[in-house]
Amino acid sequence: MNSRIRVYPWEKIIVEGRARIIIPDPEKYRRPDGRFEPAWAPVFYNPLMKLNRDITVLILKHYYNGRGFFIEALGGTGVRGVRIAVETGMDGLINDVDPIAYYYITRNIELNDLSNRVMAYNNEANTLLNNYTFTGIFVDYIDIDPYGSPIPYIDSAVKPLSRNALLGVTATDTGPLTCSHKSKTLRRYGVRCYKTDFSKELGLRILIYNLVFRAAGQDVALYPVFSYSHKYYYRVFFKTVRRGMDAYRIIDECRGYIWYCPEDLSRGFIKDPSELDPKNTGCRIAVLGPLWICSLGSTGLAEKLIDEARGSDIYGESIPLLKLLRGDYLVDTPYYRYDKLFGLYKKYMPPINKFIERLREEGFKAYRSHFDPRGIKTDAPYGELVKIVTSF
Ligand SMILES: C[S@@+](CC[C@H](N)C(=O)[O-])C[C@H]1O[C@@H](n2cnc3c(N)ncnc32)[C@H](O)[C@@H]1O
Repeated sequence: MNSRIRVYPWEKIIVEGRARIIIPDPEKYRRPDGRFEPAWAPVFYNPLMKLNRDITVLILKHYYNGRGFFIEALGGTGVRGVRIAVETGMDGLINDVDPIAYYYITRNIELNDLSNRVMAYNNEANTLLNNYTFTGIFVDYIDIDPYGSPIPYIDSAVKPLSRNALLGVTATDTGPLTCSHKSKTLRRYGVRCYKTDFSKELGLRILIYNLVFRAAGQDVALYPVFSYSHKYYYRVFFKTVRRGMDAYRIIDECRGYIWYCPEDLSRGFIKDPSELDPKNTGCRIAVLGPLWICSLGSTGLAEKLIDEARGSDIYGESIPLLKLLRGDYLVDTPYYRYDKLFGLYKKYMPPINKFIERLREEGFKAYRSHFDPRGIKTDAPYGELVKIVTSF
């Protein structure tokens, strides 16, 4: 560690992962009501996003350990990019439009002795990414971690990626994505929304589809290998392939709709709304989409990350989430709220794990869902599910 960096009295050095990071001292930037709000500090550092950064590092260690080049386009203090460089050995570039953030990024690069491997830029993210395309240097990983929606950045983010690369995207606009702001959902994501009991999964599927669709317009295929919802944000990692035919195939296969009956809570995927005949259902069916109807991630990758996290002293916090993702990746049908199902059929609710066990005994896949502590992922057809619920 470089000890010549000056740290001012309104700052402190924290340790996150294997990096040491100068941040504005949170004690000095509390809101008038005493709460700490990262946006109130001169530069953004959110300790609650440590899990998000841990998982980023775990994934990059898996794909690129010791090689490759990354761009963190919206860097804040630079904590994420510095951690990527220190913990995975990748070289890279950390950027932020805010001159104060840029100042922190430069010092945090120096503090961690990375000046010969990591560059700092003070540029607008789209300008940087668009200009970077003309350097002829292809990038192995690009990270987009904005305030709110990643949509303003996706068109430029896919341009500098190498033929086979990775893209990591955060979205904190969970209101529009979960249909709490319906007009924003329609104008930003092109989806007419209805409230459902699986809104967190709905939001992730709307987000993934929109990113995949916009990248496909530039002949880049995005394959989600890892995605999740946590507290107030979504995070998705894509393997990216620069080939028009692959981009077409992924849209053709994975663009679709969810139909949902609010009266009996049945749901399913369709490729096109014309497949539904409302006369046959006896229900006021909501059709939601277009959205992503394929798998949300790779169970193989989640298992490898668990192994990596178990063998280390810094990534342990991610293990409970990683374990839960298994079910969400193995079963595509949106999760059922188990309390709502039992409420609908006026049945006494057994412990959730007992219900899951029963579904498995009947030969179906059944798991808890990371989206909601009351959520169940199962491939049981709706009629079979109802038989099991009413048997309790
Ligand atoms: C959520 S923070 C990034 C946090 C950081 N990635 C981390 O893990 O701690 C978003 C950052 O984006 C920067 N920003 C906002 N709009 C930008 C733009 N158009 N171009 C580049 N940076 C931008 C803000 O100054 C802020 O520091």
